[in-house]
Amino acid sequence: MNIVVGITGGIAAYKAPEVVRLLRRAGHAVRCAATDHALQFVTRVTLETVSGAPLYNDLFASGGTEHISLREWADIVVVAPATANCIAKLASGIADDALSTLLVATEPHHVLLAPAMNSGMWRHPATERNVAILRSWGVSVVGPESGALACGTDGIGRMADPAAIVSAIDGIGCGVLSSQRWLVTAGPTYEKIDSVRFIGNYSSGKMGFALAEALAEAGADVDLVTGPTSLAIPSLPRIHRVDVESAREMLAAVEAVWGECHGAILSAAVADYRPAEQADHKIKKQGDEGLTLQLVQNPDILATLGRSKREGQTLVGFALETDNEEANATAKLRKKNLDFIVLNSLRDAGAGFGVDTNKVTILGAKGGRWESGLMTKREVAQTIVRVIMKAEV
Ligand code: CTP
Repeated sequence: MNIVVGITGGIAAYKAPEVVRLLRRAGHAVRCAATDHALQFVTRVTLETVSGAPLYNDLFASGGTEHISLREWADIVVVAPATANCIAKLASGIADDALSTLLVATEPHHVLLAPAMNSGMWRHPATERNVAILRSWGVSVVGPESGALACGTDGIGRMADPAAIVSAIDGIGCGVLSSQRWLVTAGPTYEKIDSVRFIGNYSSGKMGFALAEALAEAGADVDLVTGPTSLAIPSLPRIHRVDVESAREMLAAVEAVWGECHGAILSAAVADYRPAEQADHKIKKQGDEGLTLQLVQNPDILATLGRSKREGQTLVGFALETDNEEANATAKLRKKNLDFIVLNSLRDAGAGFGVDTNKVTILGAKGGRWESGLMTKREVAQTIVRVIMKAEV
C-alpha cells in the first residue's frame, strides 16, 4: 500500500520514524507529512531518510496542489502522533497547513489517527466530542494507551506502540463495505418464566457491539439486534439498534431485515430453551415442594438464516465448544449453511463472557483458517471483519 504518515507536534513524534520503518519493512511505500510543530520534535532529515522520500510540510512548495496528488497516491493517511489540536481541526474541517489540508482532502475511511496527549486533554469534553465525530464519519482511531506520560504523570494518553499502529492499518476497511447493509446479533436472550423472573445467561453483548462498530467503520450500515445489555449504543450513526428480549423476538427482528442485508454476523448467546408456559403473574411458592419447569426448544436463528441465504449473502456464526472444538465448529458451519464460523475459546484466561478480551479461530466454508491472539474484543472484531472482507473482495 501507499501510506502517508502524518506527524503533529507532540513528544511522541520521536516514535514516528519507527512507525515509518516498520511500514517500509512490511513492504509499504511511505511519504511523511509533518506540521511545523512536529519538526520541533523530529527532524526533516530523519523523516526523509527513513521514508526515502521528500517530506510534505509546505503547502505551497509544489504549486499548492500536492495535498491533492498525495491524497490520490495514498491508500491510507496515518497520523502518529495526532495531537488534540490536529483532532479538533479535522473534526471542524480546518485546513490551514500542509497536513491538515491533506487530511480534509482525504476521505474519512482512509484516515487512521494515533492520538497522544496528556490525560486531561484526552478526557476534555471537546476532545471526546471531536473523536466521536471523527469516528462517526469513518475515521479509525488506535489508542491512546495508559502508562507513564511525558508530563511526569501516569494515565491514559500514550501513543499506541508503533507495532500496534501498523497492525491497526491492516484492520482498516477503507470503506470497503460502504453501500452494504449488515446484520449483527448481540447479547443474551431472556426467556420469561413469570412476570418477574427469566432464564438468561452471562453474555454482556460486548463482542456483538464491537462487531457492529467494526462493520460500520468499514463503511457498512448495520442493524444491531441486541438482547438485554447495559451497553450504550455505539456512537456511530450508521448503526441502527433494535432491542429485543427473547429468542423469538430476536428471530422476528432478524427476519425483518435479513432479506435486505449483504451479510450477518450472529454473535448473540441465544437461549436454546424457554419455559413452555410463561405466567403473566408472579408464581407463588407451593408449600415445601420444589418447582419443575418444562422447557421447550427455541428457534435456531442462525440455522433459519442459513436456510434462506441467497447467492451473494455472507453468513457468519459463532461457536462455543468445549470438546473437539474445530471438528464440532466445522460440523456446525456445514449444518447451518455458514460462510464462516468464529470459534470462541473458553480455555484461555481472558476469553469469553463479560471480559474485554477474546481469542478466536475463524474457520471458512472453503477451508480457510485464521487465528487471533488474545486481543481486545474490538481488535478481534476488526480481525473478523477483515477476514470476511478479504474473502469477499
Ligand atoms: N444461535 C442462534 N439461535 C439459537 C442458538 C444459537 O442463532 N437458538 C447462534 C448463535 O448466535 C451462534 C451460533 O448459533 O452464532 C452457535 O451457538 P452455540 O450455542 O455454540 O451452538 P448451538 O447451535 O446452540 O449448538 P450446541 O449448543 O448444541 O453446541
